[in-house]
Amino acid sequence: MKYDFDTVHDRQNAPYQYSSKWADIKSNRDRYNYGNPLPADRIALHTADMDFACAPAIVDAMVKTAQHGIYGYTMIPNEYYDAVRGWFSRRFGWEFERGDIYPCMDGTHTAVRNCIEAFSKPGDGIILMLPSYGYHNDIDPLGRHEVDIYLKEDNGYYTVDFEALEEACKPAENTMMIMIQPHNPTGRIWTHEELNKIADICRRNNVIIVTDEVHIDIIRKGLKCEPMMKACGPQGIVSTTAVNKTFNMAGMAMTNVIIQDPELKEKYKFRASATPFGVSCVIAAYNDSEDWVEELNEYVDMLMEYAVDRIHKELPKAKVIIPEGTYTIWIDFRPYGLTAAEVNKKINDAHVMLKMGSVFDDADGDCWARICLSSPKSMVAEALDRIVAQFRDLA
Ligand SMILES: Cc1ncc(COP(=O)(O)O)c(C=O)c1O
Repeated sequence: MKYDFDTVHDRQNAPYQYSSKWADIKSNRDRYNYGNPLPADRIALHTADMDFACAPAIVDAMVKTAQHGIYGYTMIPNEYYDAVRGWFSRRFGWEFERGDIYPCMDGTHTAVRNCIEAFSKPGDGIILMLPSYGYHNDIDPLGRHEVDIYLKEDNGYYTVDFEALEEACKPAENTMMIMIQPHNPTGRIWTHEELNKIADICRRNNVIIVTDEVHIDIIRKGLKCEPMMKACGPQGIVSTTAVNKTFNMAGMAMTNVIIQDPELKEKYKFRASATPFGVSCVIAAYNDSEDWVEELNEYVDMLMEYAVDRIHKELPKAKVIIPEGTYTIWIDFRPYGLTAAEVNKKINDAHVMLKMGSVFDDADGDCWARICLSSPKSMVAEALDRIVAQFRDLA
């Protein structure tokens, strides 16, 4: 491999790092119930934030930006829009114009909240398919309410419950659905047919779809992931895309909302305040770091095979499959017959920080856990050793 994904970087104590995933901060203490301070030997695999150094072209662009020494008000150049368009055209055959890109330089949650404000009104219902990455905290504070439906699960493979979706779309007050493609935490890549069936149900019921596609570049070898607007056309659909997951730049908070439907464009009125670092890193990522993403995907594929194989052999009752997309695996601990609190305690006692099922509003709560396989293999191996040790007596 040309790039190094094996080196373990210090993100807990290194200066200028400020990693919230690795920090001893209240949100981590509250979630993991370890008290204060957090155990120094903790392994943080809970947040979808990779522990790999960014592609050299990105680091170089940031260094050059820093070295300029003046960080004044910033414009977004044509080069930025061309880089975004070029990426999605080359890799997905998805074409859109410069005027269809609405940068949101405060991350995807802000972008989705902007969409909620632009396309729904207070009192409206927003549909989520559970288990789901967390938009729970973005809906209520805006005076809208969450309308939950569950995906169907069969041995770890999830599909859409179209009847439930049809029912959820019927009340006129339910005006928006937040989709995730590929889906987090289940790793499903929704097929062309599934996407079109969802779009058809939503369109017939005047439900706007906001599709969060921030994991779209991280998929298993040989698979393809279709952006929803490409699969279904732009009417009634908004997509959020980002360099966040693909290039390990969550901290740069650079998201692009794509809107092609003229009626929706009319309603989306948010302006982005750019920073020179944000602009530089997006251009360097989309223009000059494609081979890094290819190798990242190879490395994640390797981690998937390694971790899933070990889980099958060493945690024989747990159920897990290699997901189609994302770098997360979603493990079912239910066959161990423990309560959700007992599963949670075992993972905690391993000093491995995972996101447990209740975070995603899974029906079985913490009997499920999501592991982010986005760290060097040695770190993943150590985390698995510790988790396996906790469950060994129950094998
Ligand atoms: C599906 C999905 N959407 C959005 C986010 C958060 O994006 P941002 O940090 O740009 O708000 C995450 C982070 O884990 C995610 O997994």
